[in-house]
Amino acid sequence: MNLKDELTSLYNSLLEKNEVEGLAFLAERFAGEIVFSTSFGLEDQVITHLILDNHIPISIFTLDTGRLFNETYSVWESTDERYNTHILPYYPKTTDIEEYVHKNGPLSFYRSVELRKECCHIRKVEPLKRALAGNKVWITGLRAEQSPHREQMPMVEWDESNQIIKVHLLLHWKTDQVMAFLRSRGIPYNPLHDKGYPSIGCAPCTRAIKEGEDFRAGRWWWEHKSNKECGLHIHK
Ligand code: ADX
Ligand code: SF4
Repeated sequence: MNLKDELTSLYNSLLEKNEVEGLAFLAERFAGEIVFSTSFGLEDQVITHLILDNHIPISIFTLDTGRLFNETYSVWESTDERYNTHILPYYPKTTDIEEYVHKNGPLSFYRSVELRKECCHIRKVEPLKRALAGNKVWITGLRAEQSPHREQMPMVEWDESNQIIKVHLLLHWKTDQVMAFLRSRGIPYNPLHDKGYPSIGCAPCTRAIKEGEDFRAGRWWWEHKSNKECGLHIHK
């Protein structure tokens, strides 16, 4: 089967299934070659629950940039405890960080888009490549509501830069649905979400949004809108 047909066939199979069935189907079809990345965001917590509560063999990793909010580490800890698991962390390469910070300082990302992207590359993109290596499917928590670009995304797509199939399992879930799911099951989530932070990344690069601002307005808020991506999810 060529790639296009494979993506279509996967998409059609997922359409017929609920999320748990979809995950189980993917885990069987891509046994040992499927991973889920969590940043402990709201939708990530839903997916983590679906995987661990149903004992679906999909490994879960997180990219610890070293600059996360304390609240994020707390959700990580409570998630590990609740599901009796150890979510796998990937870290930036020590020598890259040492060199970068030594040369540019600890808050260099505010100075230019280039420096910011270099920091994101060292702390997220390179570790992501290691986390995805050897796998065929990468599950994410991206949702259509999060940005105009994400609204246009297919649920199953080919990621050319990482050479992997991406599945955005909750692409069409609404925020209310995500919240209701978490609350009804008492699943831990980041308390910052209730304090005006709909989208949470690294602490120095995330702020609360004001009423009327869009979902991702608090991410890299000092940059022009068109620059706002960290390189984890690249689209042409
Ligand atoms: S980002 O591109 O702005 O950083 P966002 O925060 O919206 O991404 O999260 C979208 C999805 O990307 C998450 O559901 C998760 O699958 C993945 N992701 C983002 N940040 C991380 C991280 N630090 N570790 C693991 N996965 C992440
Ligand atoms: Fe560095 Fe900010 Fe990117 Fe985090 S979000 S990796 S701190 S530039």
